[in-house]
Amino acid sequence: MGTATLIIDGKSYELPTFVGSEGERAIDISKLREKTGYITYDPGLGNTGMCKSAITYIDGDAGILRYRGIPIEQFAEHPNFIEVAWLLIFGRLPTKDELARFSERLTQNAPLHEAMRHHFEGFPVNAPPMAVVSAMISTLSCFHYHLFNDDSQFEELAARLISKVRTIAAYAYKRSIGRPYIYPDPRLRYCANLLHMMFSMPYDQYIVDPDIEDALNLVFILHADHEQNCSTTAVRVVGSSRANLFASCAAGVCALWGPLHGGANVEVMEMLEKIHQGGLTPEKYIELAKDKSSPVRLMGFGHRVYKNYDPRAKMLKAACDRVFAKLKRRDPLLDIARKLEELALKDSYFIERKLYPNVDFYSGILFRAIGIPTEMFTVMFAIGRLPGWIAQWKEQHDEANAKIVRPRQIYTGETQHDYVPFEQRRAPSA
Ligand SMILES: CC(C)(COP(=O)(O)OP(=O)(O)OC[C@H]1O[C@@H](n2cnc3c(N)ncnc32)[C@H](O)[C@@H]1OP(=O)(O)O)[C@@H](O)C(=O)NCCC(=O)NCCS
Repeated sequence: MGTATLIIDGKSYELPTFVGSEGERAIDISKLREKTGYITYDPGLGNTGMCKSAITYIDGDAGILRYRGIPIEQFAEHPNFIEVAWLLIFGRLPTKDELARFSERLTQNAPLHEAMRHHFEGFPVNAPPMAVVSAMISTLSCFHYHLFNDDSQFEELAARLISKVRTIAAYAYKRSIGRPYIYPDPRLRYCANLLHMMFSMPYDQYIVDPDIEDALNLVFILHADHEQNCSTTAVRVVGSSRANLFASCAAGVCALWGPLHGGANVEVMEMLEKIHQGGLTPEKYIELAKDKSSPVRLMGFGHRVYKNYDPRAKMLKAACDRVFAKLKRRDPLLDIARKLEELALKDSYFIERKLYPNVDFYSGILFRAIGIPTEMFTVMFAIGRLPGWIAQWKEQHDEANAKIVRPRQIYTGETQHDYVPFEQRRAPSA
């Protein structure tokens, strides 16, 4: 602990400073208003640490991402999304027995209450799947509320949410294409069961390729947490009022839905399709992305935090190569993506601005290879991010004296003036 001196109008104030376990330095301004009468102004909160957290560490300059201290690269060899989910939520790697117990809970909880299945009929067939998923997570609160106030049931609660969101996602997809819902198969593991519910038919069992299952595990792991991003902050803000886990995570889905957050991988696919359909060459697209008079950006490039190659993009690129080699297929969109990356990484515009591929650049191509349609990309992101939201919600819930989030504002509206009756009001002149 140190101190920082703030001088306002010639008067000095001492503010405590502290350092995180990886050297991140912070000034504690929690008593700033009380001591000085001033508040800080930080739109987008880019300079504000809203919490102390021991879950995920990112070094954007060095291209580092670690979950509970473990570099994400170390999850690549035998990717197991559920093991990583447990690690994030409970703070350490599970023992074999703990993982088996958690997996059993997931299996037991995969089916939805039959009454919930009927809810899907109430949505229009062409409803955006993220709207359906957020609504159905909120609906889960109606069925599982008896677990909300019992901390000893937290693992069961988390398992229910992680397991059921997968069934919800698959049913949302089936509803959107007018095909019958497929019940979960207790013999299948987490990702294989999702693929089964999405792609099997009552008369035609989808056979899950173990390499595709591994690829899906990996994509989910790479999306599992990313510290205080927009949707995670939404989960924490809602959770700070002591709202239950399901209500808080439904808010996370809504935040993730936005094109500036979870929707970027769809825009990458649209860009690649556009180039593929022949309107533009990769060279021409790069020129347009550099042209300040055009609104075009190289989608899937650049990141607010990473000023280096996003480590998740590197792993997804390698996974794309593995999956396409296994499937003995080529995807012209992957060739275009590789070409765009090659051109950008040797172009001074992108080099000077430290613009590298981010997680969205290759994730869509991988989803496509797995057979996931574009409309479901953001839903897949939500399934992957759920353990992170749960871990962050729990960390906040377990914190002694956690405060409700209630920021301040700098009011810039009208100062006091009187109410005017209708007959004396005049329309503003155009
Ligand atoms: C992700 C993103 C919003 C980060 O934004 P940021 O950190 O605020 O960076 P800025 O928007 O300030 O950009 C810095 C500079 O790089 C340029 N730039 C950033 N991303 C670019 C891109 N993808 N293509 C072309 N130029 C880009 C900006 O025009 C700006 O140039 P300038 O300094 O000449 O004005 C931005 O890189 C982007 O829009 N990327 C494409 C969308 C995307 O992939 N989103 C998913 C993120 S995971």
